[in-house]
Amino acid sequence: MVQNEGRRKEAITPSWAHLRLPPFPQVALRVLQLTHNENVQLHELSDLISSDPAFASEVLTIANSLLYAPRFPASSVMQAIAVLGANNLQGLCMTVGVRAYMGKALSQPAMRAIWRHNLACALIADQLASVGFMDRDVAFTSGVMHDIGRLALAVIRPKEYSLLLGVHSGSAVSILNAERQLFGWDHCEAGRQLITDWKMPPAFEPIVAEHHAPRQKDDPWNMAHLINVSCRMADTVGCTAFSGCDVTPYPDLMDELPERERRLFHATVETLSIEIARKIDSVESVGVL
Ligand SMILES: [Fe+2]
Ligand SMILES: [Fe+2]
Repeated sequence: MVQNEGRRKEAITPSWAHLRLPPFPQVALRVLQLTHNENVQLHELSDLISSDPAFASEVLTIANSLLYAPRFPASSVMQAIAVLGANNLQGLCMTVGVRAYMGKALSQPAMRAIWRHNLACALIADQLASVGFMDRDVAFTSGVMHDIGRLALAVIRPKEYSLLLGVHSGSAVSILNAERQLFGWDHCEAGRQLITDWKMPPAFEPIVAEHHAPRQKDDPWNMAHLINVSCRMADTVGCTAFSGCDVTPYPDLMDELPERERRLFHATVETLSIEIARKIDSVESVGVL
């Protein structure tokens, strides 16, 4: 009897290695790897992106959207890179990559909420990094990737995960337990596996795997903390990853920021909410959505 139970559980939760998850867009991963190489030439990046016409067209569409708000619209990938700079490229390509990875699933409300949450987190992380002299492109990329593990769970069992996202209520952390019961992993652990499978730079691993871990009192402020706060700010501005997610009051989140960021970041949640909604809407109004 016990043996049967064990076998049944194994059938429901196969080992990670046996899951057949769709691959992440290769061009986005290559851009991420190349932009970590200081000697990379802009034309190499342009050639790489242009080698996938569908990906290149999405890059151009988003590069010309309000997300980057260029003064003049770019008409080629090379022009877009020249205008935005290589420094914005990994965030831009990972945004296109995550959107392509989600594909048609984006038409489901639960998946769309995750996409909006990731993008809101990326936009907030970018601004927090900017006022705190941290790397904006890494912050944006980390934000857009931080909940990538949720996408893996959604691919493994779409109906069950959508249902869980629809009925669960509580803090963002409280859903981790429910995910572990349903899948054997939570989305943080699934994200960690994806970072390894996709051979992404290892610096992203702690950010994706530990974005719900609270900051210890004496820990110096770093990118993982920045993403932790950005994730909760995304909830607070109305972009929760699931509808029953508790949100942290904005003044409490501001209290968690280092002094400089607290002084220079949006003083009220209203101005931040308006700006984030405007930028997300600008991306949703173009391209495949
Ligand atoms: Fe998360
Ligand atoms: Fe999140």
